Amino acid sequence: MSQPVSLTAYLTEAAVSHRIDEALVTVVQQIGAACREISGALNHAALAGILGATESANASGETQKKLDLVANDAFIHALGPTGVVAGIASEELDGPYPVPGASGDYLVLLDPLDGSSNIDVNISVGSIFSILRAPRGAAGLSDADFLQAGTAQVCAGFAVYGPATVLVLCFGHGVQGFTMHPISGEFLLTQPDIRIPEHTSEFAINTSNQRWWQPPVQRYIAECVAGKSGPRGRDFNMRWVGSMVADVYRLLTRGGIFMYPRDTKDATKPGKLRLMYEANPIGYVVEQAGGAASTGYGRILELAPEQVHQRVAVIMGSREEVERVASYHAAG
Ligand code: AHG
Ligand code: MN
Ligand code: MN
Repeated sequence: MSQPVSLTAYLTEAAVSHRIDEALVTVVQQIGAACREISGALNHAALAGILGATESANASGETQKKLDLVANDAFIHALGPTGVVAGIASEELDGPYPVPGASGDYLVLLDPLDGSSNIDVNISVGSIFSILRAPRGAAGLSDADFLQAGTAQVCAGFAVYGPATVLVLCFGHGVQGFTMHPISGEFLLTQPDIRIPEHTSEFAINTSNQRWWQPPVQRYIAECVAGKSGPRGRDFNMRWVGSMVADVYRLLTRGGIFMYPRDTKDATKPGKLRLMYEANPIGYVVEQAGGAASTGYGRILELAPEQVHQRVAVIMGSREEVERVASYHAAG
């Protein structure tokens, strides 16, 4: 079998074919380096005594795991010294962080470790990243510079730390999947041009929230569960890992729909997942793989963000299914 293309070789080629500048190549290389380091930290976490929670909470009020902070530090140490990242926003930081002394004009938004409830139980977790341009460069960077719609992303992707560590990458020209070689640590292109299968019979939603779902979601799931004897005329399967990265990697591979809809559990929250760290980067990847990403009422990537930590309803995956859920919302 011929050796797959390395991430470095892919980026060298993409720099020419997709006109990606050297600074953006550096940002992505350093994101790969941080993911490699986090993968190692996860492998050794129990032995190194870094499982479990800290006593601190993030800006969204969620208790931070020790590994949330390890992963956040890994990204800051990998990206800060490059000089090409003007600012970083992270689920684990109170607000946007202007990188001291930076002269570059890229912004990186991060969910350093996605799936925190799975960290201590040895189930797949991941990291999510979104890259934007700083509209006014590094000088005079303001918090408002981060508030760009998902359509403005120049690159996004995520890593899954599972049986294998994989890196899913998208520059707006399709979606590429790399697997980390367990010995060399090199990322190798094993899933080129990922396309989400159009026809699917698998759904992912946390059904323990069912009593708070709104009617369009109740209807869609009831129809799936009714299976062959219901209006869909076929049986569906349900999966819920509890790490968005793992659930989405599954739907990139074999299709499906993933939902964390708005519900009535806490009327002040427009959903659970974060627009800038989760919904936009993963929505960008899903769309580029031929799928769709919606709030139920519109395209996630077109939302005008108001706040870096804001939450949003998420319905994404195989296009036909997402459009069906959106049509149920439109029907009221
Ligand atoms: P995070 O660990 O970054 O806070 O994200 C967890 C998210 C997401 O990965 C997952 O789909 C969802 O929360 C799981 O929520 P439940 O615990 O309600 O199932
Ligand atoms: Mn997350
Ligand atoms: Mn997280």
